[in-house]
Amino acid sequence: CGIVAYVGHREASPIIIKGLKRLEYRGYDSAGIALMNGKLNIYKKKGKVAELEAFIATQDTHSSIGMGHTRWATHGEPNDENAHPHYSTSGNIAIIHNGIIENYASLKKLLMEKGHTFKSETDSEVFINLIEDIRTNNNCTLPEAVRLAMHEVVGAYAIVVLSQDSPNQLIAARKGSPLVVGIGEGEYFLASDATPIIEYTNEVVYLNDFELAIINNGQLDIRTKEDVQQTPYVQKLEMELESIEKGGYEHFMLKEIFEQPRSILDSMRGRMIAESDHLMMAGIREFENKFVNANRIIIVACGTSWHAGLVAEYLIEDLARIPVEVEYASEFRYRNPILNERDIVIAISQSGETADTLAALELAKSKGATIFGICNVVGSSIARATDAGAYTHAGPEIGVASTKAFTAQVTVLTLIAMIIGSKRGTLETTKLRELMVELETIPSKVEEALQLNEQIVQISEQYKDATNFLYLGRGYNFPVALEGALKLKEISYIHAEGYPAAEMKHGPIALIDEQMPVVVIATKDSSYEKIVSNVQEVKARKGKVIAVVTEGDTTIPAMADHVIEIPETSEHLMPLLSVIPLQLLSYHIAVMRGCNVDQPRNLAKSVTVE
Ligand code: G6P
Repeated sequence: CGIVAYVGHREASPIIIKGLKRLEYRGYDSAGIALMNGKLNIYKKKGKVAELEAFIATQDTHSSIGMGHTRWATHGEPNDENAHPHYSTSGNIAIIHNGIIENYASLKKLLMEKGHTFKSETDSEVFINLIEDIRTNNNCTLPEAVRLAMHEVVGAYAIVVLSQDSPNQLIAARKGSPLVVGIGEGEYFLASDATPIIEYTNEVVYLNDFELAIINNGQLDIRTKEDVQQTPYVQKLEMELESIEKGGYEHFMLKEIFEQPRSILDSMRGRMIAESDHLMMAGIREFENKFVNANRIIIVACGTSWHAGLVAEYLIEDLARIPVEVEYASEFRYRNPILNERDIVIAISQSGETADTLAALELAKSKGATIFGICNVVGSSIARATDAGAYTHAGPEIGVASTKAFTAQVTVLTLIAMIIGSKRGTLETTKLRELMVELETIPSKVEEALQLNEQIVQISEQYKDATNFLYLGRGYNFPVALEGALKLKEISYIHAEGYPAAEMKHGPIALIDEQMPVVVIATKDSSYEKIVSNVQEVKARKGKVIAVVTEGDTTIPAMADHVIEIPETSEHLMPLLSVIPLQLLSYHIAVMRGCNVDQPRNLAKSVTVE
């Protein structure tokens, strides 16, 4: 979900609507806004922010304070009632909320006994009634009531509260869900991330967990839930406005796919210069001994980031000879994992906000492991919770289906494997140099792979109506097969499965007939001969083979129905190239099927609920 709030000298509603559109990638099944136009009024609509915008266009929205929300449903289906903001029972105060209140059922029961009424099924409405209840019982100020309520709710939240009685006051609080305060000239902004703020000011304060911010009559006061006043730590944003706009592309996803030569380069910048043998990563240097002497590396992540983790398993085990386990964060955190001081836990997360990944990390920390974060969003919760880490520097990724963040993650993980391997002496200097030189050529090879766009449009045309897809790969290309299948199902809603090519004969082979498109990633590497046999197995059952091969290959093209040729590179780096045609394939198929590519149904960019 996304939050935006404003107080200052301008009209609040256009700023909030524009901000919500920028945050729509975080969730988009309903949206709402609260304004102080005469009295505290709430307007909300099921659907996209554009629908809310059209709705309020017919209203008098004159107000210089307000707050808005775009929602991804957790409690209660997406409809007008469940959309945020929510009023308290008296209608005097309103809330917007991201996250989940775990003890909402018991709180709701108590509040109902005390006469509070509820219009929605949301946990957020429980939160605002709790605040109202505390305020009435303790006869205290609203900020004080919010602070006391923070002691009673269990779960994750970022909230903003607006009240009829204090028309110049916004109160915000956070635990577990991100919240940024933007400081302008005589105006303040609140948002889930910096994207709605950047066009007005580059001075921001990131709220910490268990802090509340009270903006009242032009003053910002930050205090902890224990009521200790904090000195705001004002940071300068380095993000540029154009990085969050589409720049001539039809969709953010396409723009982000085409940005990869640049974003991969940015993720290496300053960390590697092959010519002068420079290979360094600040986050690793600090913990070099720990990495060199690690017993085990455990990678925790979700979704696409988990696939990047799988690539890293191959890289780190091969180059640095440290055992690696890759875990879904949501499973890891609940299975009482065995961890000790010589384990390193790496969390990979584009947003740096994924609730399960963050919780897995905190668990690892509590068990004494060293925790390391690989995040894209600067200042995000995971980045701040880790002992050390590396940013991927891919720039803001807005399309819900992750593309450039994946290749940036893989690049950073490759550098990490190379650095540890060379420090441990498991990666010989000549091999290291070769890899460095090769890695430097990757951005231009990605550029070449992007030239395949037109050819992929044609292939997409032929398979856009398929109901199933199978993706096969081996070795370094196995995680790429998983990622290709995930991309397709996320945005085109075609069922797709990724499989290790050899494992196909233990199940998925039963699905193959002349209707089944099978994407095989069969580049020239150590398992090439083996995958040739797998392609034959598919052809023998009349499956349609779309093969991604290395330029110049003649064996597989003789068998495949479609051949996509990508440049040659070391097998260690191949995922950075082989994933490109798969991203394009899913993009074009989804566009042809009329799907909303940047905002696929039911998904969210940043999943701050477990
Ligand atoms: C969501 C997104 C995916 C992403 C996953 C993990 O499901 O839609 O694109 O891979 O979360 O997100 P993270 O921000 O932790 O990488």
